[in-house]
Amino acid sequence: MKAQEWIERLPEQFVVYETTPISPSAYKGIAFIGMGGSGIVGDVIKLFLEKDGVAVPVLSLRGYELPPYVREDWLLVAISYSGNTEETLSVVDEGIKRGLKIVCVSSGGKLKEIAQREGLDFVAVPSNYAPRYAFGFMLSAVMSLFGKKDTIERIRKHLEENKGEIKETAYRIAQVIQNYIPIVYSTPLTEPIAFRWKTQINENSKTLCYIATLPELHHNEVAGLDNPITRNLCHFIILWDPEDHPRVKKRVQITEGLLKELGLVPIVLQGKGATLEERFLYLAYLGDWVSLYLAEFYGYDPLPVRVIDRIKKTLNE
Ligand code: PA5
Repeated sequence: MKAQEWIERLPEQFVVYETTPISPSAYKGIAFIGMGGSGIVGDVIKLFLEKDGVAVPVLSLRGYELPPYVREDWLLVAISYSGNTEETLSVVDEGIKRGLKIVCVSSGGKLKEIAQREGLDFVAVPSNYAPRYAFGFMLSAVMSLFGKKDTIERIRKHLEENKGEIKETAYRIAQVIQNYIPIVYSTPLTEPIAFRWKTQINENSKTLCYIATLPELHHNEVAGLDNPITRNLCHFIILWDPEDHPRVKKRVQITEGLLKELGLVPIVLQGKGATLEERFLYLAYLGDWVSLYLAEFYGYDPLPVRVIDRIKKTLNE
């Protein structure tokens, strides 16, 4: 299957996995570990759990190490599409040593072998995708673990119903930002989406893209807008959500005004949908399509990420 077809069929990936549900309050804390296309799943579920009022700390980790305060009364959820990502395996190894409860999500690889050998819970997602195109499978698997089964069904329906509109909007956005460096500004409720936009534009469109988040960006990034030589190389996109903090929403308006004063008309977007999860996935899917159209305009095949493969190979030598 080609990248375009994978993205076309993303809504179908929102399927319920039959898993034993996890009760967050049974643990002192929950840590997700994953990198790249798998790591984003931890960011998203952390945001969803926090929006639901989870009562224990939730971490979305990237890297080789488990913080010292993560002890045997924590839950570790390891997500690696290939099952072979060394940072993720390193954290799982440490989690086993510390006696954590561990659940692994992957399509196979070493993570599956470790899960079988150590008797860890394992959720299998379909194989033969590139990791970033299996986002829906991995997110559904983890949402199923946390009992968000109705939400999965609603997301699938919502994305299917809105796909036509999302594709049209994405095409127009890609036309506007083509030949500029996209700068995606987000809010606390859209930050993981901005990260997904960035990584999809990096990997699919082979294009640099940078992100910053409100309110923090009002304390540094905005000063960088003074320089017309660099700001005119960029096109700005602002992603926000109606449930953002009122002061954050005011800051979205201020940011839009600031950019307009400088002659930089930003693309300001909020997701469509009745719930945060629907709006969230609407915007994430929009970004997937933007990255695909940009790849087409620049003449790149969205699928191969040769430089990433080369780095992994070098590290294995
Ligand atoms: O999109 C990609 O291919 C990468 O970002 C991978 O997701 C990343 O390298 C981690 O690999 P995996 O998802 O197999 O753990």
